[in-house]
Amino acid sequence: MYPLNRNRRLRQNSAIRDLVRENHLSANDFILPIFITEGENVKEEIASMPDYFRYSLDTLVEEVKEAWELGIKSVLLFVKVEQDQKDNTGEAATNDDGLMQKAIKVVKETTPEMLVMTDVALDPFSSLGHDGIVKDGKILNDESVEALAKMALSHAKAGADFVAPSDMMDGRILALRTLLEDEGFVNTGIMSYSAKYASAFYGPFRDALDSAPVDVKDVPKDKKTYQMDPANRKEAITETLTDIDEGADIVMVKPGLCYLDIVRDLANTVDVPVAVYQVSGEYAMLKAASEKGWLDYEEVLLEQLMAIKRAGASMIATYFAKDALRLLNK
Ligand code: PBG
Repeated sequence: MYPLNRNRRLRQNSAIRDLVRENHLSANDFILPIFITEGENVKEEIASMPDYFRYSLDTLVEEVKEAWELGIKSVLLFVKVEQDQKDNTGEAATNDDGLMQKAIKVVKETTPEMLVMTDVALDPFSSLGHDGIVKDGKILNDESVEALAKMALSHAKAGADFVAPSDMMDGRILALRTLLEDEGFVNTGIMSYSAKYASAFYGPFRDALDSAPVDVKDVPKDKKTYQMDPANRKEAITETLTDIDEGADIVMVKPGLCYLDIVRDLANTVDVPVAVYQVSGEYAMLKAASEKGWLDYEEVLLEQLMAIKRAGASMIATYFAKDALRLLNK
């Protein structure tokens, strides 16, 4: 008598494990999120995201060069603007000479082949910390969509390759696509945050951009009327199919690890690339545990990224991108 199947034969040394491995991680998988702030010579660490920084336009140059040298081919830009740039309509987001628009140009001048993706949402520019315009305790949909389309157009004019609406308003992909087409930006792509959940994992990001909903009467305390309910699986498909119909080139699931079932559902259902955003809270958790010596930072980060690939992601926006490549390039 011997075991009918000795599955361990395919695991007995690294040569055979390498041969039979089903999924792989490489520089081609990663989008690096970058936080940009006003000022000069700024490289500020984000308190709840150890070893992650906000850069001013001058220090951004070095950061982008380093990313490019590591093999990163795509960045996703976010801006933190001063309070005087914020109001309820996000007006300043459409300023062709604004921080985002300048940052796009800096990246393109520094690394012309780097794919530049930009965050399109009102929250960094919202005095109330919402992704849309607030009125009488509600987030207005269609008015917000109009503002978002103008914001996206302004990014496209500045040279963005892809705009990435992260707001979850209804109809925004159609509005963005239509305005971009009308204005001749037919090659500007849209990466839609199509299945974005109302997650508590975004906390550190809101610290990074000072963009949390404000605690004021008649302002919703959370984003549950537009971001999706973590209990729901089917509506991720509805949301995503709608965004594809409206013109999304790439769709996204966010956050990552807790939502891998959704990633697999979409990978099985849609024919466009599915991106995953491994978010700030996921980064913070591993950083904290590894600082305590409770988890092995390097091993766990690669395992997490591999799990996201295995679930069906075509690409991953992750704060671990540079560290992952340092390990993979070894
Ligand atoms: C907001 C936005 C958020 C993130 C990206 N865009 C936070 C939110 O919805 O409040 C989160 C990213 C992260 O946590 O890393 N438009």
